[in-house]
Amino acid sequence: MRLVGAELIESREILPGQWLQSYHAPALATGSRAGQFVHVRTGDLSGLVLRRPFSINTADQATGTITIHFRTIGRGTEWFTHLRPGDTIDMLGPLGRPFEVDARSRHLLLVAGGLGMAGVRYLADEAIRDGRQVTLLFGAASARDVYPTSLLPDEIEYVVATDDGTMGHHGFVTELVADYEGWADQAFACGPEPMLRALARLAVGRRGRLGVAKLGRKRGAGKADAPSSPAARRKAFLQVSMEQRMGCAVGACLGCVVMTTSGTPQRVCREGPVFGSEEIDWEGGWAR
Ligand code: FES
Repeated sequence: MRLVGAELIESREILPGQWLQSYHAPALATGSRAGQFVHVRTGDLSGLVLRRPFSINTADQATGTITIHFRTIGRGTEWFTHLRPGDTIDMLGPLGRPFEVDARSRHLLLVAGGLGMAGVRYLADEAIRDGRQVTLLFGAASARDVYPTSLLPDEIEYVVATDDGTMGHHGFVTELVADYEGWADQAFACGPEPMLRALARLAVGRRGRLGVAKLGRKRGAGKADAPSSPAARRKAFLQVSMEQRMGCAVGACLGCVVMTTSGTPQRVCREGPVFGSEEIDWEGGWAR
């Protein structure tokens, strides 16, 4: 984890109210992994001193740049849109625990809802780099909210669902999963809580639907892994990023706590934001 001055290189509104900003921050670009986030301090002009957490949307070690993707939802995020190239902001990171891809996984299914794209976008780059195949399912309210294909790697399959049917599948993105659950070795998701909960339910029944339960030894069978450990995430078919539940993002406020099936509360900002979906007590409540 490092505290650096990150220089803004480019800032643009890529969707209504959604911005993509590129920063020169070599120390963060070099050490980051998909699923991690940065914590950024807003300027004095905003009158707000709280830092804001942003998923690392992409990171490029060669150029030393990282990008963040955010929606303007208040004065804090609005402040970022007024920054100009050359401005420097205070950025802490990389924070949190990343997605873990099993070395044997060749086919990765990524599922994003709305701004959840920022949570999985970097994983697409890492997977392509490592020679894996990627299908990205994306859900949005309407065509005008659909993440532009020009911002995605050419190598991935990109499938869209919209609530109003103005682009792609008419309905929820979770309705697309059935077509890919047999193909995918692992799945990774970020988005609204109802979407993650629905995906977790689908993941529970997947092995039975596909009839794979008897085909071989389950990964790591007989071995108990510590909650939120890399091994626990790596063995999960579905990993979820719960970054949107964060407040202070430094482990202090406990506003991000989720309950796990082991009964151990976990902080999204420290033990997460990525968890194996089976680790989360989806039905028993979230924050306690
Ligand atoms: S957001 Fe404050 S403890 Fe996690």
